[in-house]
Amino acid sequence: MTAKSIVVLISGSGSNLQALLNHFSEQPEKSRISAVISNKADAYGIERAVRAGVPVHVLPHNDYADRASFDQALAGQIDKYAPDLVILAGFMRILTPEFTDRYLGRLLNIHPSLLPKYKGLDTHQRVLEAGDAEHGCSVHFVTSELDGGPVIVQARIAVTPDDTVNSLANKVHLLEHQIYPLAAQWFVDDRLQLEHNAVLLDGQPLTANGYQYQEN
Ligand code: GRF
Repeated sequence: MTAKSIVVLISGSGSNLQALLNHFSEQPEKSRISAVISNKADAYGIERAVRAGVPVHVLPHNDYADRASFDQALAGQIDKYAPDLVILAGFMRILTPEFTDRYLGRLLNIHPSLLPKYKGLDTHQRVLEAGDAEHGCSVHFVTSELDGGPVIVQARIAVTPDDTVNSLANKVHLLEHQIYPLAAQWFVDDRLQLEHNAVLLDGQPLTANGYQYQEN
């Protein structure tokens, strides 16, 4: 059996990439991160990939005339690794429908909010401004709707009166590092499917909020 191939796309720090590298380094014969692609030459995640011995490619989006030609080049690079799964891990680019359709059902993203709340940027700030009692993160299948694809798994935290953007970002990040490897593992174990815009886990449809993760 050949190992499942996972390609991870990043733009920045890559702490989620690190969690995935740590997780998948334990089972190289079953599934492995075969490449990391960054659209930013100075992304710290590049160092993480190099340290882990994973091939890295930098594809600066500014080198391309438009979104469509960047996405085509990106897909060309991704497809060299024949991925079973493509993971967006802090990849800060809006993707064309051509791109998201090409990888539909095998393209995951993580977002720092309890989707469908707070799609887009500045989620921690928006949670504080709204006075929400809880916050969290969501892993979802990517569709052409930005941060709008069906949710696979969510983790929640309580928002306390002394929370700041930084404290929320830190708490949410810690949970992201747990639920992203979990969802990716389900996928490579063939436990997860996207079917008619619904998520199936072990053949059973999940509710719109996805699986609710509880820390042990
Ligand atoms: C995370 O908060 C993730 O939810 C969002 O981008 C951030 C990436 O962080 N999509 P990192 O680069 O993995 O540290």
